[in-house]
Amino acid sequence: MSYTPQFARRMGGVNPSTIREILKVTSLPDVISFAGGLPAPELFPVDEIAESCRRVLSEAGTQALQYGTTEGFQPLREWVAAEMGRRGVASCDGDQTLVTTGSQQAIDLVGRVLLEPGDVILMENPTYLAAIQAFRGYEARFIAVPTDEDGIVPDALPELVERHRPKFLYTVPTFQNPTGITLTEARRRRLYELALELDLLVFEDDPYGALRYRGEPIPLLKSYDTEGLVIYTSTFSKIVAPGVRLGWVTASPEILAKLIVAKQAVDVHTSGFDQRVVHDYLMTGNPDSHVDRIRAAYGERYGVMHETLSETFPDGFHWTQPDGGMFLWVTCPERMDTAVLLQSAISHKVAFVPGYDFFPGKQERHFMRLNFSNSPPDKIREGIKRLAELCQEHLGT
Ligand SMILES: Cc1ncc(COP(=O)(O)O)c(C=O)c1O
Repeated sequence: MSYTPQFARRMGGVNPSTIREILKVTSLPDVISFAGGLPAPELFPVDEIAESCRRVLSEAGTQALQYGTTEGFQPLREWVAAEMGRRGVASCDGDQTLVTTGSQQAIDLVGRVLLEPGDVILMENPTYLAAIQAFRGYEARFIAVPTDEDGIVPDALPELVERHRPKFLYTVPTFQNPTGITLTEARRRRLYELALELDLLVFEDDPYGALRYRGEPIPLLKSYDTEGLVIYTSTFSKIVAPGVRLGWVTASPEILAKLIVAKQAVDVHTSGFDQRVVHDYLMTGNPDSHVDRIRAAYGERYGVMHETLSETFPDGFHWTQPDGGMFLWVTCPERMDTAVLLQSAISHKVAFVPGYDFFPGKQERHFMRLNFSNSPPDKIREGIKRLAELCQEHLGT
């Protein structure tokens, strides 16, 4: 008889995500994949990072390989504070930041320090799948906030707060994953106003804000925050590379202190070597022009995807038209089940993510998320044409 593990109850609601399962298939070389959330690898600053590795090892090798503080490498924390200033948050200094192992860890840490089993989180509908999973690990319950093409509808909040007494609102207000939607400036102001009125903690997750390829930047929710009401996380994954696993979080001193204690128990600190390498790269590698190249490439890829969708997709399909980020979101005719479509798509060597897993509440089945950052324009054209034919066939059956 083999051993049967007795897992914690909180693991009951946590399953491997559909995306992870799909990615196993899509890593095959001849599949055109719009499924993952991967940045364009040909734009990774490989030579600059190699140079930074060499410099860190020769100039500070022993410090880089020693244990460090949980809060993070201080010069990187200072860079983050300056970056928060560039993003419109005037009052941030290095000590108000915590370097994390990707923003995914910040999400988990926020869940760890704030959530009791059964606590309610308000979320966009749909929202980032791995946040649902992380918070599910703390036995949270989710309430979807009405969401349209301008993001969350703030005026829906008072009633939801009154009825559900949520612990916080989790939001990806800029170039959201999975929809690409951006919360308008007017709604941001209203949302913050209401959060103040309702004493509602807001968790702003901003991995994509720097990847704007058209239009003007919109203030962060964090930029309105005078009361310590907004926890903000962002990441180096999309502006440098995801493999370095570096992100950051900034919050009120009370919340930050708890996040630091929690992180201490999780991994002591984020790799000090990686932090020094990325800091060296930021100081020497011309990161701004690198981000400009990423934005230009994603803008072109988005344009090709949008154009090919317009030319080839049958009537009855609609998609978002984001100004930045890595995804767009397709609404199919309601009778279509995109999980079924995916099976034939994979056999025709094209992949996407069906939308249902992204819904914190009722799982709608006629949506798909398409990633445009990870395929060159010719592959995008070819893949979208294949998908269009399959959609046509599915509608005919
Ligand atoms: C909305 C959102 N938040 C957080 C993350 C986590 O990114 P990372 O841990 O690489 O910083 C992602 C990654 O795709 C994301 O889409």
